[in-house]
Amino acid sequence: MLAEAPAGWSRAQRRLHWWSAGLILGGFAIAWPMVALPLDQLLAKFLLYQAHKTIGLTVLALLLWRGALRLRRGRPAWDAGLPPGQARLAGAVHLALYALMLVVPVLGYFTAATAPAQVPTLFLLVIPVPHAVGADPAAFGVLRVVHRALAILLVALAAGHAAMAVHHHRKGLPILARMWRATP
Ligand code: HEM
Ligand code: HEM
Repeated sequence: MLAEAPAGWSRAQRRLHWWSAGLILGGFAIAWPMVALPLDQLLAKFLLYQAHKTIGLTVLALLLWRGALRLRRGRPAWDAGLPPGQARLAGAVHLALYALMLVVPVLGYFTAATAPAQVPTLFLLVIPVPHAVGADPAAFGVLRVVHRALAILLVALAAGHAAMAVHHHRKGLPILARMWRATP
């Protein structure tokens, strides 16, 4: 980590933040029709599952990249206009978001791997991703519920986090602005 806090978020950190947010919301949105589609629409169901798994694995890869950058470069100091209590709360929420961005895709991977149907995981529809474990209906029953619950928690927490960012932006603090474009 750098000895001093950087002046702002780097271009890579900003891009990774917005790409991850978009992919999480996209993956979350397609999860519901993917599960609900009847088996007589098998091709659409299969394609939605592969899109969901590809998006989720991409979120995981971006998180590892982002985590490495964060450890090496750190983050800019909290905005001076943010009361210390709110900065501590934001820090805890950011940590929880990072943890969920790791745990949700990993649980998703094991949900797919243990599923009784044993549908292969094809990254971008062409690259087979080996399943580390085989079909296990009992584990699948638990994993699918926990994966879904933590995904809902991730999106709910991100919604609160985004609402706070917009709230501070409206109060004139440059917190959202510095995540959106380079700090002048
Ligand atoms: C940030 C990433 C992810 C989010 C937000 C997410 C979200 C969700 C949600 C909300 C559901 C429940 C849908 C429902 O029950 O109607 C779900 C199901 C599922 N997810 Fe994910 N997921 C993510 C990553 C992954 C990954 C990486 C994989 C696999 C490689 C995966 C595999 C699955 C599978 C197989 C199901 C269906 C389980 C079932 O049949 O009930 N997910 N996901
Ligand atoms: C799934 C969606 C999202 C996730 C998982 C997420 C996650 C995060 C995380 C983990 C950080 C901390 C970065 C670090 O310390 O390295 C962060 C920062 C930030 N996020 Fe998000 N975010 C999401 C969506 C949004 C949205 C929609 C907005 C705005 C409308 C937003 C605005 C911000 C801002 C302004 C910061 C910088 C805070 C600061 O400089 O102190 N985020 N986000």
